[in-house]
Amino acid sequence: MEVRRFEHGSRVPGWDREVDLSKDPSQVPDPATTPVPEDVRAEIEAHMAKYPDSRSATLPALAAVQRHHGWCSPEAIEQAACVMRLTPGYLTAVATFYDMFDTEPVGRHRVYVCTNISCSLRGADELYARVKELTDGDADFAVKRFECLGACDIAPMASVDGTYVGPLALSDVEELLDDVRNDRDPLPRKQLRYRPSAGATTPDDHTEGTA
Ligand code: FES
Repeated sequence: MEVRRFEHGSRVPGWDREVDLSKDPSQVPDPATTPVPEDVRAEIEAHMAKYPDSRSATLPALAAVQRHHGWCSPEAIEQAACVMRLTPGYLTAVATFYDMFDTEPVGRHRVYVCTNISCSLRGADELYARVKELTDGDADFAVKRFECLGACDIAPMASVDGTYVGPLALSDVEELLDDVRNDRDPLPRKQLRYRPSAGATTPDDHTEGTA
C-alpha cells in the first residue's frame, strides 16, 4: 500500500508551513469590539467552569465555535479567545494540531474514515477510496483519512458527523451517503451506539461483526 507523504515526510499536509514572523504577536481580543453569540459564550464558559485551569477547556471551546461557524475561521477563533482570555495565536496552535478542527472552510458533513492498523487490515483503504469516489465533486462533504478513532472493535469504521459506524462493507457506502445527503440517521444498523453491550443477546447478534 502506498502512503502519501507530504513535505518533510509527514502524512499530514500543512506541517511545513512557515510562521509569518513579520506579523505582530496576537493579542487577547477586546470584549468591547469582539461580539460573541450568547449561546456560544455560555457553552464555552460552562466548559471553563469544569476545570481548575480554564485552558483545559480549549478543545470543547474550539468544537463549540466550529459547530457554530462550520469551521475554525479567524472570527471563530477570535470569539473563543475572547471568552477564554487567551490569544488567537494560542488557540490557532491547538486548532492546527488536531485533525478534527478545520482552519479552512469545508463541507458541512465531515466523514472521517479510519485508516489506522486495525481498520487497514480489514479493508479501510478500499473503503476510503469508495467514499471519496462517491462524494467526488460534492461540496457538502469533507472526507478525510483518520488515525485510530478508538473503535477498533468495529473495524473498518468511520465517523460520520461524529456518529461512529462500522464494521463497514464497500456495499454499505452508497446507503450511508444517501442517509447523510437526506439528513437521515446514518446507517443505524451499523452504529456503535446501537450495538448491544457484551453478554447481551438480541435477534440480530448472529449478524453483528460481519463486514
Ligand atoms: S484502527 Fe480504526 S478505529 Fe482503531
